[in-house]
Amino acid sequence: MKGIVLAGGSGTRLYPITRAISKQLIPIFDKPMIYYPLSVLMLADIREILVISTPQDLPAFRRLLGDGSDFGLKLSYAEQRTPAGIAEAFIIGREFIGEDDVCLILGDHLLYGNGLTKLLKEAVLTVENTRKAAIFAYPVATPEQYGVVELSADGKCLSLEEKPATPKSNYAVIGLYFYPNDVLQLAPQVSPSPRGELEITAVNEMYMQMDRLQAHVMGHGYAWLDTGTHDAISEASTFVEVIEKRQGFKIACLEAIAFRKGWIGSERLEQIAATMMNTQYGRHLYELAQQHKSEQQ
Ligand code: G1P
Repeated sequence: MKGIVLAGGSGTRLYPITRAISKQLIPIFDKPMIYYPLSVLMLADIREILVISTPQDLPAFRRLLGDGSDFGLKLSYAEQRTPAGIAEAFIIGREFIGEDDVCLILGDHLLYGNGLTKLLKEAVLTVENTRKAAIFAYPVATPEQYGVVELSADGKCLSLEEKPATPKSNYAVIGLYFYPNDVLQLAPQVSPSPRGELEITAVNEMYMQMDRLQAHVMGHGYAWLDTGTHDAISEASTFVEVIEKRQGFKIACLEAIAFRKGWIGSERLEQIAATMMNTQYGRHLYELAQQHKSEQQ
């Protein structure tokens, strides 16, 4: 399965911060926002990833992430010229996806929770074994701001609506979607919505109508944090800071994930650490490498 991180948009809700830089590059505590969605793809064992952003912001993503080899990944980049909607990612990413299945995550998504890896792997299996699409439903206080899914008692999707004035449930659809390869045929059939976008909800509706949409509920014990406002960014940063300091590990530390998965070795980890030893992030990588060495002796 291949992965896409969609990091477009004009970010006007975060002005003046995002006048000169992409929203998905601003820090959430100790790392750029895009590290968080990238970590989610890595936890799902997805290593070939396309980063889509605006023509003006794409060079900065390249500078930050390079070819992905520091993280054991193979990264490619593509432009979304106008904010034409999430479903356009499958038109832009057509060649990259090729004959594979694909997972798309929005570049501003921070997901955290015990059991997340298991849930992600279940979604991959849903696609691979049943050829269904997999989405995630998360209870929120303000469902009208999101795509909303109505579920039956046995978890079947009964309806999907994009930002309904009167939501039929409090389950928002997270911006993390797993699709079989035929999303490449379905996405181009979507027409622009009243807000002028190719809505991902329209793609999900097509799968629902074919009885090929599986919703996994992310309930208690999971955090899906908003990063859409100044307050939300500050709160998300505090969330990460509190957990990292209390538990002594890092959330969305891409090099550490790659190391644990055996995608990069301890020497590489040490080299990367050496480039940022003046930060806690760099020292964390260094300690991981040292710990590994002493275990080997
Ligand atoms: C998009 C999707 C929506 C989804 C949301 C998650 O909304 O259209 O269905 O629930 O992401 O963040 P947008 O960010 O385009 O308003």
